[in-house]
Amino acid sequence: MENVSGPALAASAASRDRMVSDVRRGLQADQKWLPPTYFYDAKGSALFERITRTPEYYLTRAEHALLEREADSIALAAGPRSLAELGAGNAEKSRILIRALHARGLGEAYVPVDVDRATLAETAASLREEFPELDVIPLVADMRREIRIPPAAPRPLLCAFLGSTLGNFSAAESQLLLSRLRGEIGKDGWLLLGADLVKDVATIERAYNDAEGLTAQFNLNVLSVLNRELGADFDLAAFEHRAFYEPRLRRIAMHLVSRAKQRVTIPLVGEIELAEGESIRTEISCKYDRESLEEILRESGFALERWMTDDNRSFALILARPE
Ligand code: AVJ
Repeated sequence: MENVSGPALAASAASRDRMVSDVRRGLQADQKWLPPTYFYDAKGSALFERITRTPEYYLTRAEHALLEREADSIALAAGPRSLAELGAGNAEKSRILIRALHARGLGEAYVPVDVDRATLAETAASLREEFPELDVIPLVADMRREIRIPPAAPRPLLCAFLGSTLGNFSAAESQLLLSRLRGEIGKDGWLLLGADLVKDVATIERAYNDAEGLTAQFNLNVLSVLNRELGADFDLAAFEHRAFYEPRLRRIAMHLVSRAKQRVTIPLVGEIELAEGESIRTEISCKYDRESLEEILRESGFALERWMTDDNRSFALILARPE
């Protein structure tokens, strides 16, 4: 975790070490897996943005409409001097909140947090242009680790964790992440959570299997990242995208399935063997209902204050505060 303008070298060596240990742990497991963190290089972030505009990916549209509808009431309830967004990407959602905050003379500082330095730099530049008065304090950080909201951001703080990104984490990881966040938010702050809701399986599965094949490209891109960053020799054509709903776990699982028996070499990690049909799980995306969210929040020390859903009840925004 560091400021974008800070020293880059040490941090990138540390994040390289982290990548090596993540890949080693994941690809040596029985069910091979990779953390979704590594999807989001510049290309992956751009692909994700295109996914959010596909007709199948209802999540972003539903959340966007909810934010438009609720931004002013959120501004009024939380009254923050700073807004932070975890996994800010292009900060499209934050822009709605920033406008609503400014209309009430709130939100003088904005802290976009993202793993991808290039995406973050672009986002910061475009925000500074759109909101010349706004103090933009970008932070490169992996949310699986501790995030420290810079003290330069005046309190109270509204911390937005949108897009159902929480869904990428297991229950235990979610609780750890939210508990840490609670410490950063403090007694006078607020959490704004965006969460995808349980619904009919076909709708959910379509969102992760768009007809244009963008989700497949996004999924395969993680292998390009490992090739570039670790000198691995993954052949992208030797893998197939698969995403399916696991009803018992109430989550989408996304995999890369090996089309044939193959061996991949990853310097610093070793040789990885894959049987035909064997897969690497690259993402989970949990789906929620009010009860399950209330429980996660309670266990992380938050009280749910407002529950907001769209007319189809496909997506929820939750305003919560540390209790
Ligand atoms: C950004 C993690 C919320 O899980 O829906 C989109 C990522 N993966 N299509 C999601 C994603 C495949 C997305 N999140």
